[in-house]
Amino acid sequence: FEGCLNFNAHVWLPDAAEVWKSAELLKDYSPGDLTLSLQLEDGTVVEHNVDPKTKNLPPLRNPNILVGENDLTTLSYLHEPAVLHNLKVRFIDSKLIYTYCGIVLVAINPYESLPIYEADIINAYSGQNMGDMDPHIFAVAEEAYKQMARDQINQSIIVSGESGAGKTVSAKYAMRYFATVSSSSEETNVEKRVLASNPIMEAFGNAKTTRNDNSSRFGKYIEIGFNEDHCIVGANMRTYLLEKSRVVFQAHGERNYHIFYQLCASSHLSEFKAFKLGCADDFCYTNQGQGPVIDGVNDAKEMCNTRRAFSLLGIGESDQVRIYQILSAILHLSNVDVKDQSSDTCSILPDNAHLMVFCELMGVPCEEMAHWLCHRKLQTITETFVKPVSKENAVHGRDALAKHIYARLFGWIVNNINNALESTVKQHSFIGVLDIYGFETFDVNSFEQFCINYANEKLQQQFNLHVFKLEQEEYMKEEIPWTLIDFCDNKPCINLIEAKLGILDLLDEECRMPKGSDDTWAQKLYNTHLKQNAYFDKPRLSNEAFIIHHFADKVEYQCVGFLEKNKDTVNEEQINVLKKTGFTAPRKNSCY
Ligand SMILES: Nc1ncnc2c1ncn2[C@@H]1O[C@H](COP(=O)(O)OP(=O)(O)O)[C@@H](O)[C@H]1O
Ligand SMILES: *[C@@H]1O[C@H](CO)[C@@H](O)[C@H](O)[C@H]1NC(C)=O
Ligand SMILES: *[C@@H]1O[C@H](CO)[C@@H](O)[C@H](O)[C@H]1NC(C)=O
Ligand SMILES: [Mg+2]
Repeated sequence: FEGCLNFNAHVWLPDAAEVWKSAELLKDYSPGDLTLSLQLEDGTVVEHNVDPKTKNLPPLRNPNILVGENDLTTLSYLHEPAVLHNLKVRFIDSKLIYTYCGIVLVAINPYESLPIYEADIINAYSGQNMGDMDPHIFAVAEEAYKQMARDQINQSIIVSGESGAGKTVSAKYAMRYFATVSSSSEETNVEKRVLASNPIMEAFGNAKTTRNDNSSRFGKYIEIGFNEDHCIVGANMRTYLLEKSRVVFQAHGERNYHIFYQLCASSHLSEFKAFKLGCADDFCYTNQGQGPVIDGVNDAKEMCNTRRAFSLLGIGESDQVRIYQILSAILHLSNVDVKDQSSDTCSILPDNAHLMVFCELMGVPCEEMAHWLCHRKLQTITETFVKPVSKENAVHGRDALAKHIYARLFGWIVNNINNALESTVKQHSFIGVLDIYGFETFDVNSFEQFCINYANEKLQQQFNLHVFKLEQEEYMKEEIPWTLIDFCDNKPCINLIEAKLGILDLLDEECRMPKGSDDTWAQKLYNTHLKQNAYFDKPRLSNEAFIIHHFADKVEYQCVGFLEKNKDTVNEEQINVLKKTGFTAPRKNSCY
């Protein structure tokens, strides 16, 4: 803001290490002065230069009496340092991780288990008003439940935040709340089944990343259905954009999906003997990150949880074994060695042990599989050719096949969970819980991060719309005096990604070009957006990367691999071989 500041006023100064530092004014300041004389809390005296162009003064500190309140909207000054300071005081001084900001609940990840989720706490929140109780995820859940029950309006809880912030844990507590307060009249166990979907989805869709040991690599929207008496009668989930590339590649320090390690840790069990597994270090798809264990996690024990959850959901023993058989096949596929024959031909020996196990587990003919791993069919209008492929292409094709199989298995599991959770009686209303992958940026960011961050950009837009735009319009309509908050509208960034000639449009176009490449796409991006779009940038030292100024941070994306991942093709002939499997597809809803 601009204006006068009196001696003794408290402000926040930006600081490279601490982000914001508190300081006190030593002399009165009046408009036109170019510096502020300030003293930091450790006694250091500093001169702060006022930007002559903007004349912006540092943000003012709230009076101490207001700090620590449980609703940020009660602060006199609501800006970044005020928000951070208030959250910090609550967390450091009192271990309070929850704070309201109007209807929004802000949560800090404590990274330790706190005794605030027991059944007696759920009971304490049940039936109460949001404003009467300390901020809590249970209060938000209760509010949704009450509005659904009382006002007959379907509800949704949206959990957002960067990777590792605690979204999935919060979503689980919300679900646990509903399961506890709305136990059904009959003994159907439906609440237990709804909760049992969590460990399964985590085993198959979560992995260790450098940011979170239990990072969700897919988005999930679960709708919990209630009957007229507000008891849970069923649920349905929809998943978004599983990170398939993780099945075949993991960065240093990261892991593949938990389930692979759970399976390897259980390979000695008699029911898994036929899968010829060893430890996770033995397979290419599970050893690239070079960190096969997670501190405090016992994969063999987690396997028991996964299997118990499957059984609770009515997915029978035989289907479960089939699932692990397919996962084992994927692991063996990763060790199938492709040999160079010449620069553009390659071969796999028919007695390749891993290929034999893969084919045996999948029930498909081995010679044909070996052939189509090293060849592809080309179709013109008049003719069909069979062409050999280079070793590099064969390895690509093999990995594409592994990703395809895993993604189909994941989809099958989601379908079966949905069948098991389907309501047998009429659903009257629902509460939805959205838990998607959070905003993320790594040392190397690719197509996956681009999609994840795009999704978060869209979610942020919804948030802006609800919290700022609609609220402000309401105030203006009712002519309540109110200064418009200049919130960051991220529409321009979304346009950069999704509008005509935007990043996705150009990517799709490049994928249709016979000679399109990641490089030519990068050049088109630079030509179209560089210096024309403030949200787009190019790293100074690279011609194969671009930068997007997202609402949460700047992220540099490496172009290499974008075309391939966007096309996401598999060799059709390999799929045709798989279709010759001697096994029938697992039945839907078996043993139930
Ligand atoms: N409320 C909480 N209490 C204790 N630990 C938490 C809480 N929320 C998150 N954590 C810890 O942080 C980790 C990451 O949380 P998670 O929900 O997986 O993050 P996200 O889904 O946002 O990526 C969890 O595995 C857990 O150890
Ligand atoms: C990840 O989630 C699973 C399932 O809820 C849990 O059992 C496991 O302990 C979690 N792992 C970590 C590292 O928090
Ligand atoms: C809420 O959702 C149910 C479906 O679960 C639907 O039948 C009902 O009409 C919805 N209610 C309202 C008020 O939209
Ligand atoms: Mg998560």
